[in-house]
Amino acid sequence: MDKLSVRDARQAAAIGRQVTLQGWIRTRRDSKGGFSFLELNDGSSLANIQIVADGKLANYESEVKHLSPGSSVTIRGEVKPSGGKEQATEVHATEIVVHGLADPEAYPLQKKRHTLEKLREWAHLRPRTNTIGAVMRVRNRISRSIHEFFQDEGFLYVNTPIITASDCEGAGEMFRVSTIDPANPPRTAEGKIDYAQDFFGKPAFLTVSGQLEGEIYATALGKIYTFGPTFRAENSNTSRHLAEFWMVEPEAAFFDLYDDMALAERFLKRIVGDVLRDCPEDMQFFQERVDNTIMAALETVRDREFLRITYTEAIELLEKSGEKFEFPVRWGADLQAEHERWLTEKKFNAPVILYDYPRGIKAFYMRLNDDGKTVRAMDVLVPRVGEIIGGSQREERLDVLIDRMKESGLNPDDYWWYLDLRRFGTVPHAGFGLGLERMVQFVTGMANIRDVIPFPRTPGSAEF
Ligand code: 4AD
Ligand code: MG
Repeated sequence: MDKLSVRDARQAAAIGRQVTLQGWIRTRRDSKGGFSFLELNDGSSLANIQIVADGKLANYESEVKHLSPGSSVTIRGEVKPSGGKEQATEVHATEIVVHGLADPEAYPLQKKRHTLEKLREWAHLRPRTNTIGAVMRVRNRISRSIHEFFQDEGFLYVNTPIITASDCEGAGEMFRVSTIDPANPPRTAEGKIDYAQDFFGKPAFLTVSGQLEGEIYATALGKIYTFGPTFRAENSNTSRHLAEFWMVEPEAAFFDLYDDMALAERFLKRIVGDVLRDCPEDMQFFQERVDNTIMAALETVRDREFLRITYTEAIELLEKSGEKFEFPVRWGADLQAEHERWLTEKKFNAPVILYDYPRGIKAFYMRLNDDGKTVRAMDVLVPRVGEIIGGSQREERLDVLIDRMKESGLNPDDYWWYLDLRRFGTVPHAGFGLGLERMVQFVTGMANIRDVIPFPRTPGSAEF
């Protein structure tokens, strides 16, 4: 008897096989003829498989008739053609082993549909719902595409540290990592907390980005990518921000900004193409139940060339738009979500790559343009989500980089190793970061970023 996933047992090719299926009951319906229909799900697909449980099963009265949503079972039986039009197959059980019942009075996912907000309170049970199950299958496909894409393009997977002493984005939004007893910290002569006595002998934090360490490996191995959790202690309670999120960051020596933009475009097209090809059932669910424009939006990303316009051109378009924005449009100010949405949704209805941003609003490591006013930054904006990728060509000139650090309030001595990369065999190089959860949001149409990561961490919330 072969163990089969529900997904495989649903295929017509399985008809005639003796199989073992294992999973959780979604529903039970008793027939007047003295038998029952069970809907079984094991997470391998959105769809359940129908199990016909004969009244002659030894434990039919004692156990099978007590199966309710959430109960766990092993089913042995034969796959047969199904009479129903929804499915090709069903399984006629010869044995049903019950592992655990789920008290219908107490089980929160009993029948009734819950809001996504309510489900967040049950992060331990919500993966058993159709929506979160579909999100996680698509998230898995995206993660796989990320690795496949970069491996195919000749990038090496490098693991950059989670604990770090440097603030890559220079925004000071880092979580401190410390073993100091907050009730009784060691103090310096001036009465300040003495981090020289802390675990690492200096202040340490959770990383906001693996980029700086990624640059070290790119300037030795050529093309690398890092993919891991990153942390931001910014107090933004929005539908697009998490305090802990996953970021993939490629970094490539001898890449300029245009190579970087082209890489980002190929990358997004690859992910979207893979999901459309390999997750049709889950995508149909999102199209029907979450956002009925999602398939068209994804096909646009896959098939249409991304627009590339400078920040300055974008500001001109926004100024001429005649729209009443909540935040005024002004050259030199960061674009707000409403501005990004107008560009991607109203003006172009397509992904847009904005580049050459004012130096004042971008990080110290971005290459200064000859105009002295802008840097070689690029953001990829997509409809609904806004900024999905942020990247740049890096400043490879030692003197300019030191000036930019000082201008950003950073002490160049703290980044001596980063400056060494410019002292010894410096090269033009570039890279970017894609937020995995923003990508999952974009692909699934899910409105809130908290519903596309298994255990969301946001201000005031870290249960589990
Ligand atoms: O634009 P960001 O801050 O860029 C960097 O961190 C660079 N060091 C990347 C690089 O060049 N290697 O972040 C990159 C992306 C954003 O475009 C967004 O998709 C995502 O990371 N992101 C977040 N996602 C969820 N919650 C947050 N708080 C996020 N902050 C950034
Ligand atoms: Mg950014």
